[in-house]
Amino acid sequence: MAELTIRAPRDDEAEAVFAADARGFGFHVEPDDMRRRLSLMEWERFRIALDGEEIVGVAGAYSLQMTVPGGAVLPTGGVTWIAVAPTHRRRGILTELLELVHVDIAERGEPLAALSSSEGGIYERFGYGIASRVRSARLDHSRAAFRRDVDVGAGSVRFVDDANAQPLIADIYERYRTTRPGEVTRSADWWRALEGGRRGPAGGFSPVWYLLHADGYAVYRIESRWDNGHKKRALDVVELVAVTAAAHAALWHTLVNVDLVGQITSEMIPLDDPLPMVLADPRALRTDEITDGTWLRPADIAACLRARTYGTDDGFVIEVEGSRYRLEGSPAGAMCSKVRSRADIVADRAAVGALLLGGIRASHLAAGKRLEFRTPAIAGRVDRFFLGDVEPHSQTHF
Ligand SMILES: CC(C)(COP(=O)(O)OP(=O)(O)OC[C@H]1O[C@@H](n2cnc3c(N)ncnc32)[C@H](O)[C@@H]1OP(=O)(O)O)[C@@H](O)C(=O)NCCC(=O)NCCS
Repeated sequence: MAELTIRAPRDDEAEAVFAADARGFGFHVEPDDMRRRLSLMEWERFRIALDGEEIVGVAGAYSLQMTVPGGAVLPTGGVTWIAVAPTHRRRGILTELLELVHVDIAERGEPLAALSSSEGGIYERFGYGIASRVRSARLDHSRAAFRRDVDVGAGSVRFVDDANAQPLIADIYERYRTTRPGEVTRSADWWRALEGGRRGPAGGFSPVWYLLHADGYAVYRIESRWDNGHKKRALDVVELVAVTAAAHAALWHTLVNVDLVGQITSEMIPLDDPLPMVLADPRALRTDEITDGTWLRPADIAACLRARTYGTDDGFVIEVEGSRYRLEGSPAGAMCSKVRSRADIVADRAAVGALLLGGIRASHLAAGKRLEFRTPAIAGRVDRFFLGDVEPHSQTHF
């Protein structure tokens, strides 16, 4: 094997980078899809590995801002587009590319890196911990009646066509994103790319429809397929954002009233979503799978820990990779700085990432040996301190 070169891609290499990534993942990129995504690519944040002229590895990041408990946002490198050619795997190329992407994130002053992973076994070694979870759920249309005492806001939801939808839903998204830990900013380019990608039919799905409420929106599409001579149709909820309980009930009620649909499926229903509570039969909503969502790697531990609020008024010394941090926090805010005092908790970087959004119990991490309480009696206190009021979740794929 010739010596590998690692560098940022040039603008004229966009097509080759897309092709290398598509080959690594085993998918096909349509030219339209590539044009649409081009405006999102921050090539100076990417690194490629070349064997001679051939691109054999890709890694990059988007510039994002991620919400943490309490509603503050952290500048975040949204790590993405990671692929190594099957001919070059397990030779340390990912390790080298990711190291450079992390250096770039640190040089930009972003305290946090985030990603969603294709497989569960890859990223913990690089300091990433699972901070949020995603569920695949389905709602049985025939059993999805609402409780009689729930006001479903008749007349409060209307369709908006895709040409007009984007600015309206972007405004609502802006109101929503700081209420949900784990959610990220979407730039104007991001919205344009999303809208363009949803305009046409794809893979058995219809184009999307947009439902709008004054305080929320839903984006859905219909999947049609033949099953032994019978047409089967499912409704897939691509996104549902509700800033109020009234918007949530009205949008879901509209979705369950779409006719000629067997099941409603979604991967966008947070674990704490009130949908089962407003249904007459809460079991109509079935969870097929719960899996890892966002993985976080705090680069600047103190900056990350001081950005969020905490469940109780308390304080601990946390040791991470030999450095100790005194964290004092409460529901109003936090302070965190390096100290030399004795540690109460010893954690690895990935465990701090897992704790950052308030959705994971410290004692669960301790059970998995990712974190240690120096005095076991503090476990309950630490759990209550880190747990947030709102389940972390993200409806933005990056
Ligand atoms: C995942 C992928 C990027 C790994 O690239 P790579 O260059 O082979 O990785 P490295 O050689 O740097 O591996 C680093 C370490 O991670 C381990 N590792 C790599 N991929 C792994 C996987 N899928 N599951 C578990 N461990 C993995 C390696 O064994 C190695 O461990 P070691 O240091 O103990 O030897 C590559 O297999 C790939 O492109 N897969 C398909 C696309 C994909 O899934 N991308 C990730 C998107 S989130």
